[in-house]
Amino acid sequence: MPAAASRALCDFLDASPTAFHAADSIAAALRASGAVRLDEREAWKLEAGKTYFVDRNGSSVIAFRPGTALPEDSGFAIAGAHTDAPALRVRPEKALRARRSERIAVEIYGGPIVSTWLDRPLSLAGRVAVRGKDGRAEARLVNLARPVAVVPNLAIHLNREVNKGFEYNAQNHLPALCAWPAEEASDPARAPWALQAVAAELGVEVKEVLGTELFLVDAQRALAFGPGAELVNSGRADDLAGCHAILQAFRQSEAKPHGQVAVFFDNEEVGSATLQGADGVYLRELLERFSVAFGSGGEGFKRAIARSFSVSVDAAQGWHPSYADKYDETYGPTLNAGPAVKANANFRYATDALSEAAFRSLCAEAGVPCQKFQVRADQTPGSTIGPISSKLTGIRTVDVGAPLLAMHSIRETVGARDHEWMIAALRKLFERGPDLY
Ligand code: CO
Repeated sequence: MPAAASRALCDFLDASPTAFHAADSIAAALRASGAVRLDEREAWKLEAGKTYFVDRNGSSVIAFRPGTALPEDSGFAIAGAHTDAPALRVRPEKALRARRSERIAVEIYGGPIVSTWLDRPLSLAGRVAVRGKDGRAEARLVNLARPVAVVPNLAIHLNREVNKGFEYNAQNHLPALCAWPAEEASDPARAPWALQAVAAELGVEVKEVLGTELFLVDAQRALAFGPGAELVNSGRADDLAGCHAILQAFRQSEAKPHGQVAVFFDNEEVGSATLQGADGVYLRELLERFSVAFGSGGEGFKRAIARSFSVSVDAAQGWHPSYADKYDETYGPTLNAGPAVKANANFRYATDALSEAAFRSLCAEAGVPCQKFQVRADQTPGSTIGPISSKLTGIRTVDVGAPLLAMHSIRETVGARDHEWMIAALRKLFERGPDLY
């Protein structure tokens, strides 16, 4: 049986097929532990001793637990991760019909390993806007949570070179087959199947669906395997495992003199430059709002920022035994050997000597082993919310992550023990606070 932490992680992964559902899962968990949701449009009357959260766009959540001291005297301890993952985004207005078959048109969100989306049951999930009361747009979550489509490969006999690598064309090859009835449909002007399915799920007419952000996602559940259930295999582990670790650590922590902040950003996979992404004013403005509300405005807020520390949590490329030559032998982090600090000379990661030392000391105090990840010196790594968020907030940041295999595959593999260790290290961050260097 998987340990409690990985069972909770699997439940979180299954409940979160898209960033909208991840934010919803996070908000539900925060509410369950007594946090109060704030509306950004309202004036806030905040009380010491309570925990708050803001949910922007339904896909990006920032939770805040005020400290018992003034922010200017104690700063904020911050941990951040991202709610989104690569997927096939649906173009629902378009029905691709040929010889009674129907396919769902798609475009690619982020950088998936495209071939892993083929020949497997896909579900449909996301957000739609419907016409609400007074003619205003109203957001509704949709999660069909069942297999509804497949992107079929071409038979190998018609493409014998396929195993030498094949470049899938999103327009031509990735539409997903969703229906092939034996009889010709009676209504040739009918709405595309995906729109009909979403409208039926929500109990509205197709014409009431005014906008959509729908994705084709893995329909299979997260699972644990290995003799000790020590490996977790799932869609979206990058970075929902990071989100879940932060959420658990935040919920398990108590108020301290410093403020505690848990950040869950959308749109990391497409560069973060959105209303609700890390490359915007969202976090800085909220930190200022909370700081002012708890007695540190103006220069006080700037002092609070200067006293703060942030941990950016995103998956690290775990050492892969079948591709050992792709790693630097010293810097390829091993699964189930602890969280890895991620560093890069050109600051693709925010880590510097002091922020690395700060995270290492948190791990040491929590009894958690700590690894280091750097790509081979002849490679360039991906990036994270770390450098972007650090630049925009002015807060020293370390990039860390649990080792993960098959990053951006429709199913990725992580270590169950690493997840527990990450939670323990982040609990230590929230407990100890930002005064670490
Ligand atoms: Co990531």
